Amino acid sequence: MIPFEDLLWVVFYAALAALVVAAVALGLLYGLRGRSVATQLVVVGAATVLATISGIVVISFMMLLNEHDRSVVLAVVTSAGLVAMAVSVLLGRRLVAANRVLVEAVRADRFTPPPDAHLPAELAELSRELAAAQDRLGAAYDRLAAAHEREQALEASRRELVAWVSHDLRTPLAGLRAMAEALEDGVVADQSTVQRYHERIRVEVERLTEMVDDLFELSRIHAGALRLSRRRVGLADLVAEAVAGAEPLARAKGVRVRGDVREGLPVQVDTGELGRALRNLVVNAIRHTPSDGAVEIVGDVQDGEARLTVADACGGIPEDDLPRVFDVAFRGETARTPGGGAGLGLAIARGIVEAHAGKIGVANVGPGCRFEVRLPLHT
Ligand SMILES: Nc1ncnc2c1ncn2[C@@H]1O[C@H](COP(=O)(O)OP(=O)(O)OP(=O)(O)O)[C@@H](O)[C@H]1O
Ligand SMILES: [Mg+2]
Repeated sequence: MIPFEDLLWVVFYAALAALVVAAVALGLLYGLRGRSVATQLVVVGAATVLATISGIVVISFMMLLNEHDRSVVLAVVTSAGLVAMAVSVLLGRRLVAANRVLVEAVRADRFTPPPDAHLPAELAELSRELAAAQDRLGAAYDRLAAAHEREQALEASRRELVAWVSHDLRTPLAGLRAMAEALEDGVVADQSTVQRYHERIRVEVERLTEMVDDLFELSRIHAGALRLSRRRVGLADLVAEAVAGAEPLARAKGVRVRGDVREGLPVQVDTGELGRALRNLVVNAIRHTPSDGAVEIVGDVQDGEARLTVADACGGIPEDDLPRVFDVAFRGETARTPGGGAGLGLAIARGIVEAHAGKIGVANVGPGCRFEVRLPLHT
């Protein structure tokens, strides 16, 4: 039995020797900190073996081991140390391989996290975090792409508008100028032609005024400068007003306009603006409906939203045109006649409806097409 005091000395010297080895190993690890985990694990394994061996060497000097025992202990410790180092190397290689799996997955176009079973806990956590970060980035990218697309569409519609202004405003202006000059120079002299010129000038000026007004409204919508002063009204009031406003045009064209709304469907809208949107729909419907046809305006509730529909007997809009009718300056083939519309009415209607957090759409139904406006119901 070894005396207690000797045991204390053994612990002291063995710890001292181990500390020296540990200090060297730490220095080495510091130097190798940028290297592979496998290399660092080998250093740790070697340090463990060396610390043990140095302890044995120290106690041999203390004459606590005879030659025979020392050889036996050294042999056992060395073989155990070698096995431990081999295990470290294996572990290191597994870590390196797992890391490579993760790197490959990250390098791929789209990161698919490797199965957790292939990764140690820390790398598995890193992989999950990477997947989550990718999802967040993906969502941000989608939002950015959508914003970019909207911006491009807006830019295209602005360009169209400029092209439109230069063409559609100039042509009638040139006509007006020609008529004014003819009157001024006395080229037209007979009373009835002079009268006709005056009348055409007035009609053209009215049309131009409307166009400029529409352009102004559209530019306010595009600039997001539409200020709505909302108040609570019933759908029935909106429809009644639209029907009454369309009456003269409908009578002139021989088209019947009917409104059909249940009382008490309240919405919170700017009546001036929404009335304008509705008027644009009704005027279009009357314009495209042959005489003796009918235009029907219905207000009801659908899926918890207020719904206004304007149905006509236009014979249907060509399928290709359906998605484009709300574009600025879009006019169908039949409307491209001199003195026809400017192609702003539906773009304005859509802008106004969307400013009310509503939706507008169109579909071919029955003998014509049906425009549909949905607005949040005001409870
Ligand atoms: N009720 C409808 N029936 C058939 N086609 C329609 C109807 N409403 C619109 N369209 C088609 O959509 C196009 C765009 O309509 P929009 O109201 O924007 O312009 P517009 O009526 O031609 O001109 P503006 O309204 O500026 O006077 C029209 O030219 C027409 O081809
Ligand atoms: Mg129109």
